[in-house]
Amino acid sequence: MDKKEIENRLRYKRTNMANMIFVSGATGNIGKEVVKQLIKKGIRVRAGVHSEQKAGILKKLGAEVALIDLNNIKSIQTALEGVAKAFSLFPLVPNLAELGANFVKAAKVAGVKHIVWSSGMGADSPQAITLGKWHRAAEKAVEASGIPYTIVRPSSFMQNYVNFAGHTIKNQNAFYFPQGDGKISLIDVRDIAVVVSILLSESGHEGKAYNLTGAEAISNYKVAEILSEVTGRSISYIDVPVDTARQSMKSMGMPDVIVEALLELSAIIKAGYTSAVSPVVEQITGKQPIAFRQFAKDHLQFFE
Ligand SMILES: NC(=O)c1ccc[n+]([C@@H]2O[C@H](COP(=O)([O-])OP(=O)(O)OC[C@H]3O[C@@H](n4cnc5c(N)ncnc54)[C@H](OP(=O)(O)O)[C@@H]3O)[C@@H](O)[C@H]2O)c1
Repeated sequence: MDKKEIENRLRYKRTNMANMIFVSGATGNIGKEVVKQLIKKGIRVRAGVHSEQKAGILKKLGAEVALIDLNNIKSIQTALEGVAKAFSLFPLVPNLAELGANFVKAAKVAGVKHIVWSSGMGADSPQAITLGKWHRAAEKAVEASGIPYTIVRPSSFMQNYVNFAGHTIKNQNAFYFPQGDGKISLIDVRDIAVVVSILLSESGHEGKAYNLTGAEAISNYKVAEILSEVTGRSISYIDVPVDTARQSMKSMGMPDVIVEALLELSAIIKAGYTSAVSPVVEQITGKQPIAFRQFAKDHLQFFE
């Protein structure tokens, strides 16, 4: 155990953590919103942070911060010490299942009482693509753990249009995916976070797995139409050939295995397999999921 770990342990022990909830991936899309939701509910949050320099916003929100590396079981165990419940999120990496198994091992030692486990829609399908298989292998670790769990399987995020297409929407009035006119039941990560915060603060969801989607499935042509209306400019969706998308992702430095996994996802979008709509967000939150038009209005600054 190094000096930093010992200091962290002592610090955690000093605080009363009866209702402390741990959030992994707390600087990412979903995690950051989960932290906001839990703090809004008055719940004490320990945010699992991979890069300390990104932790500022979480501290400002009022979260306690713990440095973790999901490859390092000890670091997870230290961060989970005294924690009642946890939200687990794993980055999109080829050893995602291993990170999941690490999290479960650490949670068992730390005595975590309930884990809300973030996965991906389609992970449970017998025809799952590579990304789904990675997530399903990780899910199996928590299912076998004996720790009460609830799995959430979100569809594609609306925020992808900011993170992966915002730059070209801004600079070229266009975005590029090899997804034909396939429809996607896009979800806003803010809805995922509201659901997760409810699952973490209410009982009755143990052992369940929920698909989380928006209220409708739309194609990228419809996304372009809405973005055009909201920005007041003409935004185009360009349905690029698979090899163009491959070269583009490789030129950004993405590892080949991730590039191919994302191309598989685009292929099933194009083939029409990502249009299923789930009623769960409304059932759990009592509110209609955020529509893409609202998402676009709320994120206008990233498109202009
Ligand atoms: N995008 C989609 O449309 C979509 C749809 C369904 C499911 N998913 C799934 O959702 C997950 C991604 O969620 P997201 O977009 O909210 O995440 P994200 O924004 O990509 O952030 C990933 C988080 O994990 C942290 N992280 C990375 N490596 C780590 C490590 N070794 N140890 C500890 N933390 C680490 C990152 O911190 P640093 O940045 O500091 O490294 C960051 O906080 C993936 O599992 C993906 O398959 C995505």
